[in-house]
Amino acid sequence: MSRTLPALNPPHHTRVRRSLGNMFDRKCMVDIKDAIEESVDQLLDRLAEKMCADGEADFSALVSEELPMNAIGGWLQLPPADYPYLRALAHDQVFTQELLPSTSQLALSDAATGQLEAYFRELVQERRRVPGNDPVSGWLRTWDGLESDREAADEAVYLLALLVFLAAPETTSTMLSTMVWLLLKHPRQFGWLRAHPEHVPDAVEEVLRYDSPNHIISRVAPEETTLAGVRIEKDRMVHLMIGAANHDPKHHLDPGAFDIRRKAAHLSFSSGIHYCLGAPLARLEATTLLTGLLGRLPGLKLSGSPVWAPRVGFRRITELRVVES
Ligand code: HEM
Repeated sequence: MSRTLPALNPPHHTRVRRSLGNMFDRKCMVDIKDAIEESVDQLLDRLAEKMCADGEADFSALVSEELPMNAIGGWLQLPPADYPYLRALAHDQVFTQELLPSTSQLALSDAATGQLEAYFRELVQERRRVPGNDPVSGWLRTWDGLESDREAADEAVYLLALLVFLAAPETTSTMLSTMVWLLLKHPRQFGWLRAHPEHVPDAVEEVLRYDSPNHIISRVAPEETTLAGVRIEKDRMVHLMIGAANHDPKHHLDPGAFDIRRKAAHLSFSSGIHYCLGAPLARLEATTLLTGLLGRLPGLKLSGSPVWAPRVGFRRITELRVVES
């Protein structure tokens, strides 16, 4: 992971990031929009059927875990049959980025990273053999122009494919579950949103501020420095607590209040040169899902408390039971 984009510094970072271009530009978003809407429709159908049959359903398993995988898998043109396997590996892999992982969690993460490495190296070779109109084939074309050595180009594209895949489902699934949990916990705001759908994007931003899917970004100090009055030695790791920063009372009035009308800036997609490249996709998934919910399931309610995985850095709701009244 130390060779993937978030761990790189300029000028290497600049070169690699430029090679990706504007991944989710306007044209791409228009192309993706229909697929996301279709996926939301199908997932809400299944949710409604399950609630009808069983009285309640797990929103997290039926919708939040599925939509981001469909979105990134569809965009990268991965076989849908591989989605459950890849999703399970993404859940296990995340522990390397946790604050204080246990030895067994690191072992799990190591094994998952090995399997993901094999999968994405093979994917790059497959796209070499049969190039198509997909991002991985596009990155190969770009890197063939940047590197004279084919192996070096393949290596660069493998690291990009791995990182883009890993960055997407875990974070976005958490955001979708958190969004539904917070809005159902605040039924007046959910109801208000139905009458004011133009504020759906604001609601998504407040969800990101209030409970960021990723609470920690880590950096290593390249030289001794002083940050906000704290001396940091060279090579020391610094954890930036972005979840806490989003609740800084110096920046957010009454930060503990969930208020979808506040229009506050947040750090949940980071800031500066490492700003999240997938933010437009994550936002599109959240706004499409929320619009679908308001239109189709306005009577949705929580039927239990959410269950969280015991993690600090990357939040994860593993169960979110809902009913339709
Ligand atoms: C709600 C969902 C998401 C959240 C909260 C999120 C959050 C973040 C954060 C905090 C970073 C910065 C990491 C750092 O500074 O060390 C980041 C970087 C990144 N994200 Fe996201 N992300 C999300 C979804 C996505 C998606 C869907 C994709 C891809 C389709 C993606 C691709 C990336 C990439 C490629 C980077 C590395 C950028 C760089 O280092 O230059 N993310 N993301």
